[in-house]
Amino acid sequence: MPCVPTLPHPPRQVEVIDTDPSRPLGERLRVRAVERPPLGAGQVRVGMLAMAVNPADLLQLDGRYGLRPSLPYVAGLEGVGVVLETAPDVTDLEVGARVLPLAAGGFWADERVLHRRALVPLDAGTDALQQAMLCANPATAWVLLRHLVPLEPGDWVLQNAANSAVGQCVRQLAPALGLRVLNVVRRAQAVPAEAAQDPAWVVDTSGDSHTLKAGLARARAAVAPGRAVLALDALGGQATGGLAAALDDGGRVVVYGLMSGEPSVLPAHDLVFRGVTVQGFWLARWFADPAHRAHAKALYPELAAQLSAGALRMAVDAVHELADVAAAVQAAARPARTGKVLLRGAWWGRPL
Ligand SMILES: NC(=O)c1ccc[n+]([C@@H]2O[C@H](COP(=O)([O-])OP(=O)(O)OC[C@H]3O[C@@H](n4cnc5c(N)ncnc54)[C@H](OP(=O)(O)O)[C@@H]3O)[C@@H](O)[C@H]2O)c1
Repeated sequence: MPCVPTLPHPPRQVEVIDTDPSRPLGERLRVRAVERPPLGAGQVRVGMLAMAVNPADLLQLDGRYGLRPSLPYVAGLEGVGVVLETAPDVTDLEVGARVLPLAAGGFWADERVLHRRALVPLDAGTDALQQAMLCANPATAWVLLRHLVPLEPGDWVLQNAANSAVGQCVRQLAPALGLRVLNVVRRAQAVPAEAAQDPAWVVDTSGDSHTLKAGLARARAAVAPGRAVLALDALGGQATGGLAAALDDGGRVVVYGLMSGEPSVLPAHDLVFRGVTVQGFWLARWFADPAHRAHAKALYPELAAQLSAGALRMAVDAVHELADVAAAVQAAARPARTGKVLLRGAWWGRPL
């Protein structure tokens, strides 16, 4: 019987014990050592390498996310790991294999036990930090561009929070579909240095429709004309209306994020007289639809291959140890980050 790799300490997990945002974070999170559970049929023990700290995690910590597990719950909605042990009936995964776990959460931990069917094999030679960010944001960008509004090569897609991880992925996935992207950010420093003169970037501090319309007109004149029938809104508030007003008649605003924390405000004029429509989007709901399950199977291996090829890449701001989770969460909540904040699990860099 092969020896199962173990840590020099019991595995730890980050537990949320209170979601009241008025209380200090340090009192709402705890890092707790736990016993290793035995494996059941079809199960795999996964050692966590790296885990992202996303806006969705922050919403969930404050009890404002679409999924509200009962307390205490193990935090963390995405990450990447390595296979430590498999149940005897799991014959297609070796110890040491890199895997992307697809489950409803609980990834801010040193180890997880998951069913084999929740694991997507990944290339062990690819940057694990990038793979830790694969589950949510690249997949969201993929679905937003491919599955919500029929688009044609040459169309413009408008997006705010364009420097976000989703925004980076939208920009990197769009060219293969022949799409052009108008990128809106709220501060000049968020425009990449190489795009300083690029007319497809707009700095807008207030969700102002005049700034967006002028930006789109400039981009069309400088790059190419093309329909503007899809706008991706990560913010809500006034930004939703700004995007709606900038779209062509009949265009669609997809609200997929709530970073402003404000209700979406829309000019009724654009809805009534110009036929602009608005829809919400949540990847978890989209995948829950049986009609979309087949896409999930194809999507992750393809996105993983793009990561490995370097065609998809998301910026990283900082990496914290799991025990340092409170500082990581505070860093992730700060404005004007230079990329994603991640956590490192105890299996990071540990030979098996
Ligand atoms: N619906 C879904 O299924 C789904 C899936 C994945 C992500 N999302 C959502 O997508 C959004 C982006 O996620 P991410 O992980 O890509 O984000 P991220 O990389 O953490 O970046 C956050 C972005 O939001 C901007 N921002 C934050 N607060 C803002 C405000 N009050 N006004 C304007 N901009 C603001 C930041 O701008 P600065 O750099 O200037 O601070 C940055 O561009 C989030 O709302 C997230 O919840 C939704």
